Amino acid sequence: MTLAPDPSELLGLGRSIAEEVAQGLEEALAGDVRATTITSKSTGTDLVTEMDTWAERLITDRILAARPDDSIVGEEGADVAGTSGVSWCVDPIDGTVNFVHGLPGFCVSIAAQWQGETVAAVVVSPLHRDTYTATAGGGAHRNDEPIRCSEPAGLGRAVVGTGFGYRPERRRRQAEVVTEVIPHIADIRRFGAAAVDLCLVASGRLDGYWEVGLNPWDHAAGALIAVEAGALCSGLNGEPPSASFVLAAPPSIWTELRDLLAGAGAADL
Ligand code: IPD
Repeated sequence: MTLAPDPSELLGLGRSIAEEVAQGLEEALAGDVRATTITSKSTGTDLVTEMDTWAERLITDRILAARPDDSIVGEEGADVAGTSGVSWCVDPIDGTVNFVHGLPGFCVSIAAQWQGETVAAVVVSPLHRDTYTATAGGGAHRNDEPIRCSEPAGLGRAVVGTGFGYRPERRRRQAEVVTEVIPHIADIRRFGAAAVDLCLVASGRLDGYWEVGLNPWDHAAGALIAVEAGALCSGLNGEPPSASFVLAAPPSIWTELRDLLAGAGAADL
């Protein structure tokens, strides 16, 4: 029988790798990222830089050097089948558009999963100087200080984040949903990296976040950090976060926000 891993050990490994990669990304910004090779994936706005590829290779190499029997899935195509029961879900640069434009908010996101459940998570946002971490049952931290989600009295006080996918028609619909939502909340934000958005909910800086169309590497780490900070994070009906829907918010407004989003057709994209 395979023994369950120690989440703290997985976090230590993931964190050291994420911080190494984040430093490399920050150094790359000293040059002209837009002058390097940038290609696109699903649509012309879905960018991949040389640094995405570099970062994912480094993360994969470092994990396998330390834990050769683990599995790895990554945004840029990493797909390693292991035997240990531990799987790593990696976004080498979440918020690639921010990175290309030198805007704060891109991050390195790494989740370690045991038998399908995320047990350790790290999100490093280098230009914010923020390292968010969590282990299942061990709480959430920013730069080693415990964090909790906010406790807004109601939706009217809530600053809520969202994101837009890359397909033009979906984006148009997502923007229409925002026009339905914004009259009922304090304000809206679009920062450009789902993992950071979830960590902003965890730290109480955002009072909620939703998005449709995310991939597992976008939300795996941030969702554990949000939940460990006291937020609820799931699909619209309480099911696990998925491409269908991710909604993270403090318990005090989760249902109200869910009802508002459902009424605005946020899931019908
Ligand atoms: C994207 C970011 C963005 C979100 C998109 C994601 P990427 O990830 O998280 O905020 O709105 O849905 O695809 O492509 O920069 O790794």
